[in-house]
Amino acid sequence: MADILLNEVNPDLVPKRRLPNGDEMPAIGLGTFGNDSVDAQTIADAVYDAAMSGYRHFDCAAVYGNEKEIGCALQKVMAAGIKREDLWITSKLWNDKHKDSDVVPAFRQSLDDLQLDYLDLYLIHWPFPNFHPPHCDVTSRSKDAMPYIHDDYMRIWRHLERLVRIGLVRHIGTSNMTIPKLQLLLRDAEIKPAVNEMELHPHFQQPELFKFVTDNGIIPIAYSPVGSPARPERDRTPEDTVDIEDPVIIEIASKYNIHPATLAVKWSQQRGSVPIPFSVKRRNYLANLQSVISEPLTAEEMSRIAAIDKNCRLIKGQVFLWKDGQEWIDLWDLNGEITK
Ligand SMILES: NC(=O)c1ccc[n+]([C@@H]2O[C@H](COP(=O)([O-])OP(=O)(O)OC[C@H]3O[C@@H](n4cnc5c(N)ncnc54)[C@H](OP(=O)(O)O)[C@@H]3O)[C@@H](O)[C@H]2O)c1
Repeated sequence: MADILLNEVNPDLVPKRRLPNGDEMPAIGLGTFGNDSVDAQTIADAVYDAAMSGYRHFDCAAVYGNEKEIGCALQKVMAAGIKREDLWITSKLWNDKHKDSDVVPAFRQSLDDLQLDYLDLYLIHWPFPNFHPPHCDVTSRSKDAMPYIHDDYMRIWRHLERLVRIGLVRHIGTSNMTIPKLQLLLRDAEIKPAVNEMELHPHFQQPELFKFVTDNGIIPIAYSPVGSPARPERDRTPEDTVDIEDPVIIEIASKYNIHPATLAVKWSQQRGSVPIPFSVKRRNYLANLQSVISEPLTAEEMSRIAAIDKNCRLIKGQVFLWKDGQEWIDLWDLNGEITK
């Protein structure tokens, strides 16, 4: 198995998702959030090697604190002959840059740090202006924390639409949104979101939101597709379940002679989302890339995995709550209404 997994992948063979303007997004990307534990240079080195091994899609964000290092890695990638137009680079606006005067400078900072003259995709990372310091614990709250305010979100969205019109970004999208919030955005946007980046893994399949976004022509990007086994302590609770220890996942993975994590990535891509698994281990990120070009899962295997959903959200977002006495579920509009 090791020899097969260590082979590079021809990027032309990697499935793509076509966007309305004809652009093609590689249907798997490499995550770049080190979960507060992997350093920036190690992640940048993985980006370089992953690109040399067949990855073309990289999920970045200002708050991951490594866009400068990744920018240097991307320069090396292009110096080695991979064309800019063959790469798909995403970045995200962090929650502390939601003010009118901050949006465009924050975007330009990411562009400068990544050493690029345009981005393929720019996302609003969370629909709240609430943020937390790196390495904080679960009780941390920003002092001016606010609920979702649609007019404020639309003000940011208008800046993003202008960035598309002047050619600095090709597509814009959302992250950590809910159906009622997306309904308002779809009603008011001049440029519709191309993607919604959302938590998706076998134990958290979000079938209703998944259907809503795909029915509206929005591509679901699956974050934490493996179930984020290395997530920070603030994102762990005793009730959390472990996808890669699920007997169904283990059994199907062993049939294909792959790690349960790789199976979770393979399932995610075959289901119709674009997984962005994180790893800095060559063997693992190559296995994930290999998985999307190898023999597909059977319909029966897809159904068996669909049946192990446990509605187990891992990235609950407690640090973004805005008033005392709230529960993390208040962030997710579970009754179909935006929480005030
Ligand atoms: N938009 C958002 O709000 C948001 C939120 C969270 C994450 N994200 C994005 O999504 C990316 C991925 O999410 P994540 O890092 O939370 O979780 P993840 O990708 O589900 O899990 C990453 C972990 O899985 C392990 N892993 C990956 N592939 C493996 C393989 N083939 N075999 C064995 N282990 C494997 C990695 O371990 P090793 O390092 O040992 O390989 C790593 O610890 C992030 O990096 C970030 O880009 C976005």
